[in-house]
Amino acid sequence: MTTFEFPEHFLWGGAIAANQAEGAYLEDGKGLSIVDLLPTGEKRRNIMKGHVPAFTPLEGEFYPSHEAIDFYHRYREDIALFAEMGFKALRVSIAWARIFPTGEDAQPNEAGLQFYDDLFDELLKHGIQPVVTLAHFDVPVHLIEKYGSWRSRQLVTLFETYAKTVFARYKDKVKYWMTFNEINMLLHLPFLGAGLAFNEGDNIKEIQYQAAHHQLVASALAVKACHEIIPDAMIGCMLAAGSFYPYTCNPEDVYQGMEKDRESYFFIDVQSRGEYPGYAKRFFKDNQLNIVMEPQDADILKNHTVDYIGFSYYSSRTTSTDPEVVKNMTSGNVFGSVANPYLAKSEWGWTIDPKGFRITANQLHDRYQKPLFVVENGFGANDEVNAAGQIDDSYRIDYLKRHVAEMGEAIQDGCNIIGYTSWGPIDIVSASSGEMRKRYGYIYVDRDNEGKGELTRLKKKSFEWYKNVIASRGTEL
Ligand code: BG6
Repeated sequence: MTTFEFPEHFLWGGAIAANQAEGAYLEDGKGLSIVDLLPTGEKRRNIMKGHVPAFTPLEGEFYPSHEAIDFYHRYREDIALFAEMGFKALRVSIAWARIFPTGEDAQPNEAGLQFYDDLFDELLKHGIQPVVTLAHFDVPVHLIEKYGSWRSRQLVTLFETYAKTVFARYKDKVKYWMTFNEINMLLHLPFLGAGLAFNEGDNIKEIQYQAAHHQLVASALAVKACHEIIPDAMIGCMLAAGSFYPYTCNPEDVYQGMEKDRESYFFIDVQSRGEYPGYAKRFFKDNQLNIVMEPQDADILKNHTVDYIGFSYYSSRTTSTDPEVVKNMTSGNVFGSVANPYLAKSEWGWTIDPKGFRITANQLHDRYQKPLFVVENGFGANDEVNAAGQIDDSYRIDYLKRHVAEMGEAIQDGCNIIGYTSWGPIDIVSASSGEMRKRYGYIYVDRDNEGKGELTRLKKKSFEWYKNVIASRGTEL
């Protein structure tokens, strides 16, 4: 499909998150974290938005994160399969509550630290670079109950302690870090993104942007600590990317598209340029949002900007000011996109737009002029094992092929893309729905939406395909 040869040291690999893969939710001293309170389906959606019925798992409810795919006990077997595909990098996250079970313990939990030591050693043994996210939809539940999570300034200090602890411990093993996964998710699914639970009468917008400010300061302090403790490491931010298209060339639609993009860019503008953009200040003023900032914050943000822009890309988004068009929203996405008549959708309503990947990468490059790292991309589908025990996921190959080709184009456009870790190289629990049947993997996991199955691993057709993509440095798609 393309003959473009990707750079020699390009970081090909895959990405998972602790909360969607590990399971072992209370093992070896781990405390409860956000996802341990998330069941499946509609109930999950409500809780993720901040309507949290209880801060403890309910009797008789099924919580997919509690066992997930048992990566905690099976990671050696899984990493061997990643190595067989030729991975150069694996993106994982550290579960904050494995290291500090309550989030404010006097000492870190040694068993938790040891687990990640063993995990990183196993990766390095196979020549795979760990790419580590500090917070992937992960707040210890105790901090939510005691402080209201990121609405409190207290979290900044506690997060800094956690970050310094893991930087010091893994400084010889981990050279690629990220602070908050999809930091802009905080505006759409505030409980998932930042552990924010709301009460009657709360000024939700103000709480969200106050929490955002705390995360931005915490992110900058983590960047500072990382640069001090591991001078040869790179630390980035992470954006749920995907540009907004105006539905028509009506300037009202175009302007709204710009505003919607800015809702997300706001975070990265601060993390990458080190200051609040003018449009954000105006937004706070126009909406009478009183965001408390400490006098030292401006300097912290200015002096500790990120080294690279990590981002996920699944689809583009479309926006309209026409009430008739707005009636036709796409289902399944949290960004409030109207259906784009030029594009097909996945079973979960996620728009498929490879060209949008190139557009998004170029926009991020033009805006920030920093290395880009594609840390998520992929196709969620309900794969079937046929009578012969095989899984033909040609549709996934088709999606990935077209996206990798556009990524090659973006590199040729001048974007400095340093790596590509596709999402869920092994099937894991879906973040948005809690389902197992929304699968992204090259490796199938025998487990269903109800938690039944033997958890055995099976290679899909895409396994050999991706292995060959990596081996051929993208020249054979
Ligand atoms: C991103 C998240 O939003 O998309 C991942 O960082 C998530 O955690 C991925 O799993 C895919 O979304 P989903 O809902 O299909 O799992």
